Amino acid sequence: DNMTDSAITSKPVALPDAQTVTEVQHYTDRLFRFRCTRPQSLRFRSGEFVMIGLMGDPDPRTGKQKPLLRAYSIASPSWDEELEFYSIKVQDGPLTSRLQHLKVGDQIILRPKPVGTLVHDALLPGKRLWFFSTGTGFAPFASLLREPQTYEDYDEIVITHTCRDVAELTYGAELIEGLKTDELLNELIGEGFWKKIRYYPTTTREESPKMGRITTLLKDGTAFRDLGIEAGRMDPATDRAMICGSMGLNLDLKEILEGYGLEEGANSDPQHFVVEKAFVG
Ligand code: A2P
Repeated sequence: DNMTDSAITSKPVALPDAQTVTEVQHYTDRLFRFRCTRPQSLRFRSGEFVMIGLMGDPDPRTGKQKPLLRAYSIASPSWDEELEFYSIKVQDGPLTSRLQHLKVGDQIILRPKPVGTLVHDALLPGKRLWFFSTGTGFAPFASLLREPQTYEDYDEIVITHTCRDVAELTYGAELIEGLKTDELLNELIGEGFWKKIRYYPTTTREESPKMGRITTLLKDGTAFRDLGIEAGRMDPATDRAMICGSMGLNLDLKEILEGYGLEEGANSDPQHFVVEKAFVG
């Protein structure tokens, strides 16, 4: 009968590992974030990434559909009951050309196998933690900035975010502003925690209070002067860093940090800094 028919046709396609989108926010024509449900069984460390995606188009010959998956840093912290992702929109990108049209209630595929090197376990103890990012490379730091351990383990957090223009800084700027009034963080670690945060946003293609690539600003000493770091360099005795950006940024910054005497670490071998590329885009 009619009832049964409509019940069948309105049933969502049964995706493997399906999660439901709960919130979508667009920042620019190139950037957006969304939140979705979190599988109860999913455990991860703040800073890790997972594979997410959508069902691909049917194969023209067989009619079979395969999942279209990409690595995405989880932008929400490990304690959050939902998951958040921060994404680029590439008009001819196989996944992001479709992902950018997500609406609340839509389903995405999430493979519940979190991994990654931008985790506290991969760093030796230190005093000052640097988060270096460009573009959507801010995502893992959106997770770590909402992770109490970040403030328990360090006296000071320096967040650098380099984007082409001011609008591309919005997600990070709003997130950091929101920390001040985050009830859970205030409750867990006391209201003074956000005073540990030094936010250092820069733009390269639009006028803003601080212009230039972070790599240039480190090399010519500007960043240290602006931040009041008298030594004018990072120190392997006290400074720790996580890097997430374009391949170019990652390579250039690795060289700069190694010039300060810092060594790259991994989960199995904690050292002074860790690197991960911003995946999508
Ligand atoms: P630039 O405008 O000088 O290329 P994108 O949007 O292309 O991913 O870039 C994000 C930001 O990262 C831009 O501001 C870009 O600066 C900057 N960037 C790109 N490559 C590097 C690099 N090798 N070192 C530092 N910053 C970089």
